[in-house]
Amino acid sequence: MADRPDRTDSGTLAEASLAVHAGKQLDSTRALRTPLVMSNSYELPEDPSEISWSATAPGLYTRNTGVNQLALERKLAALEGGEEAVALASGVAALHAVFFTHVSAGDHVVVSDVVYEATWRLWSDLLPRRYGIRATFVDISDPDAVRAAMRPETRLVCVEAIANPTTKVTDIAAVAEIAHAAGALLMVDSTFTPPPFYRPLADGADLVVHSLTKYINGHGDAMGGAVIGRSELIEPIKADAMVDVGGVISPFNAWMIERGSVTLPLRLRQHLSSAERVAAFLEADPRVAFVAYPGLESHPGHEIARRQFGGRGYGGMLAFAIDGGPEVQNRFVAQLRLVTSGFSLGHDDSLIVHTAADGPRTVTYPEEFRRYGHLRLSVGLEDPDDLLADLGAALDASGV
Ligand SMILES: Cc1ncc(COP(=O)(O)O)c(C=O)c1O
Repeated sequence: MADRPDRTDSGTLAEASLAVHAGKQLDSTRALRTPLVMSNSYELPEDPSEISWSATAPGLYTRNTGVNQLALERKLAALEGGEEAVALASGVAALHAVFFTHVSAGDHVVVSDVVYEATWRLWSDLLPRRYGIRATFVDISDPDAVRAAMRPETRLVCVEAIANPTTKVTDIAAVAEIAHAAGALLMVDSTFTPPPFYRPLADGADLVVHSLTKYINGHGDAMGGAVIGRSELIEPIKADAMVDVGGVISPFNAWMIERGSVTLPLRLRQHLSSAERVAAFLEADPRVAFVAYPGLESHPGHEIARRQFGGRGYGGMLAFAIDGGPEVQNRFVAQLRLVTSGFSLGHDDSLIVHTAADGPRTVTYPEEFRRYGHLRLSVGLEDPDDLLADLGAALDASGV
């Protein structure tokens, strides 16, 4: 039996349908789910002498593209509304793949002053020190500051739509305009804002990065990363960072993440609505010193978030602190029964992590983050009433 064509080719399906069907191509086994193909090599044609060992084509070798990787990439491209996607070993591998492929020695990049730890380390130390690429960190919420930071040799602007961990909101359309006017590309790490909640490409971003480890897999049991965008930008990432540097995702992780992503639109609806309730609950409690959540009117990026995310929600992540020192934050976390202390986010279970107030990375954080430190909370899929009860009981028991 011939391979069945991709049912999503027509481009008319809604997000929930894309999450179920995009990327699926039934093969001669007629298995309804894309089979897990762990083989790292494929049988070559009779005369393989002309095939490039660096080709980014399927049917050769898994570092050049495997069955499960391809299925995941097709789905991610469909969900983000991009031409092409590349799936890699982790979110950080995806970030590095963009930097490695699209920035060279002598180039300059503009980076938001609040970004994920590894992005901050890459641009504050590793890439400038090792490769002579200069980076300027700017307050990404100030268009004049972003414009002033651009130089003739600026190649890339690097932001997060909602930033980890302060939840700072970037106006993607405004920053895209500034980047493009200066001849630079805009890369958006959209890990906190996965589709269909938000699609940065539609607002002018050139490259979208995800840690697939988070919401897109959603179950905390696989690591992966992806970059999505125009083929002319993704193909070089495949050739350079995937085939030649080797940041390839394993077939098993690609299979797991594709499987997890089937329920992404459904899960996100719950994450977003529960997070709004949790944020409002915490903000109303006088024992809570501050809550940073773009859905709260007190958030400086609230208006941009309302417009940019089109009323679909404000994300599943928030940061807050209890009124007290680090020992109080730790005591509160220790009292939680449902919410677990853990580094990751976007999982089915709610995760919290306490981060100290000081340190080189926190100098650009809002004043309250530097006074109290913060608790980053990833609101999970538990019943929101149970979450509020857990947080309330921990506040009572922490003796604040
Ligand atoms: C915004 C953001 N980008 C990238 C990453 C890195 O992803 P990974 O842990 O899959 O390498 C993370 C991880 O927490 C993140 O929060």
